[in-house]
Amino acid sequence: MIDIQGITKSFGSLQVLKGIDLHIDKGEVVSIVGPSGAGKTTLLQIIGTLDKPDAGTVHIDGIDVTTLSQKKLSDFRNQHIGFVFQFHQLLPEFTAIENIMIPAFIAGKSHAEAKQRAQELLEFMGLTDRASHKPAELSGGEKQRIAVARALVNNPAVILADEPSGSLDSKNKAELHQLFFDLRDRYGQTFVIVTHDESLAAITDRTIHLRDGLIEMPEAIPSPIPEQEPVQEEEIETADPSTEAEDPSTQL
Ligand SMILES: Nc1ncnc2c1ncn2[C@@H]1O[C@H](COP(=O)(O)OP(=O)(O)O)[C@@H](O)[C@H]1O
Ligand SMILES: [Mg+2]
Repeated sequence: MIDIQGITKSFGSLQVLKGIDLHIDKGEVVSIVGPSGAGKTTLLQIIGTLDKPDAGTVHIDGIDVTTLSQKKLSDFRNQHIGFVFQFHQLLPEFTAIENIMIPAFIAGKSHAEAKQRAQELLEFMGLTDRASHKPAELSGGEKQRIAVARALVNNPAVILADEPSGSLDSKNKAELHQLFFDLRDRYGQTFVIVTHDESLAAITDRTIHLRDGLIEMPEAIPSPIPEQEPVQEEEIETADPSTEAEDPSTQL
């Protein structure tokens, strides 16, 4: 449902993306990792139609977004793509529920329809009692979850998240990460998440390693240190501390 082929992108003489091919299925939670400057944000912005590649195609739900006009692109983005950034970027003068409803208004939904969807999302996230709070009255974790609800309001094909938990403490981070998987289970929501967080990358369905403008092939990625075999409980119970003293090598 997202099909990316042969994407290249340069800024001046700097070639940031050197030929990216990537296919993402509906309901997949994919993470993109890589060193700073590797081109992660650039790739996400191209998938999200916020930037155009120099060459290559991006198909989302069968539509080649690289050929759409500016006017069509903004409609497409509003209806098919949800964004979550490192900082929530909620509008400070609007309440939580109003922030969630705004993209639905832009899509031409009625007030009643937008409100019903926003309420459903708030309830799913356990934030119903925060509906009429303004962003300044919400915690960092709550603001990020409201930003996720805003991204979801128009049932997008994909949510693109750029370091979404980068500004959260570990508890809120874990809650936000869990929310992504809960949303996948409930709505079949697809996520592409740029992250530095290894614990998040480890639990996603697939991790794309970006380096020097290319996707690293799996065999080129150093495998993690193998886990120790778990010690059997019986071994612990039957282990006799005196056997160690009988080992001749320890008596020298
Ligand atoms: N609009 C731009 N103009 C010029 N250079 C850019 C622009 N956007 C990104 N770059 C450069 O492209 C490279 C990749 O940037 P980026 O995609 O933000 O990397 P990452 O998100 O992996 O840290 C960096 O060297 C960055 O400075
Ligand atoms: Mg970045």
